[in-house]
Amino acid sequence: MTLAVHNLEVVYEDVMLALRGASLSVPRDRIVAVLGANGAGKTTLLRAMTGLLDIHRGKITRGYVSLDDTTLDTRKAAKVVASGVGQVMEGRRVFTEFTVEENLRVGAHTQGRAGLQDKFDRVYTMFPVLADRRNARAGYLSGGEQQMLAIGRALMADPEYLLLDEPSLGLAPKIVEQIRDLIVSINKAGTGILLIEQNAAMALSIADHGYVMENGLTVMDAPAETLRHDADIQEFYLGGTGEQRSLRDVKHYKRRKRWLS
Ligand SMILES: Nc1ncnc2c1ncn2[C@@H]1O[C@H](COP(=O)(O)OP(=O)(O)O)[C@@H](O)[C@H]1O
Ligand SMILES: [Mg+2]
Repeated sequence: MTLAVHNLEVVYEDVMLALRGASLSVPRDRIVAVLGANGAGKTTLLRAMTGLLDIHRGKITRGYVSLDDTTLDTRKAAKVVASGVGQVMEGRRVFTEFTVEENLRVGAHTQGRAGLQDKFDRVYTMFPVLADRRNARAGYLSGGEQQMLAIGRALMADPEYLLLDEPSLGLAPKIVEQIRDLIVSINKAGTGILLIEQNAAMALSIADHGYVMENGLTVMDAPAETLRHDADIQEFYLGGTGEQRSLRDVKHYKRRKRWLS
């Protein structure tokens, strides 16, 4: 069982070419990482997969998304969720005026009432902090708790695949560790994971496979183990300098340096 993207091209406002041919696949039993600097097209990829391009004035101009060898209808976000593909958007968009429990209930809206309590129980077991604060307004939760709520809300729809857009962004290292461990347990419980991250160290520490995106293209595609040991990835994504230069620039620069010396 696999969720896959085939040569996807996306244009915003009919002019801005944000994806120029991105391909990847997520086997259901795996964690797949997508790395890349700001503006590489990671969020666009997720929007294209989950039916959210419309509201951002974007559209798929080439390629498609498939779920177990059938084309996934990515025109409506609710349809994608109902097909078993859940997502946690960039910036943990929880409904701040709603309580924790109300947020979770929203996550189950594509599902029938049957089994609702089981779903709450499952999420509350996985995130005890959400259980403790079930009647608190989401806006009063810490950043880490809001991220957990965003993940919990996506799990309420019982997804077969979960796509996460930079879940570690802006969180303290301790919290990032917690989120990372939760992603691992969600995967172990049977959900395929697509993990978009700028935090390459975190993503590659748990991923089976990774892709690197640049300028709307998937420019690297390798087992996470290989990426962890790739010199360029090490230097420019794992170096901890915070600075992210283009991988292609790096390779180009190195070639030139070799050529000149
Ligand atoms: N709604 C939009 N309209 C026009 N251009 C956009 C829109 N959203 C993103 N872009 C552009 O598409 C490119 C990819 O952006 P994005 O997918 O957000 O990258 P990433 O998530 O990797 O930082 C960037 O050049 C960005 O400015
Ligand atoms: Mg993004």
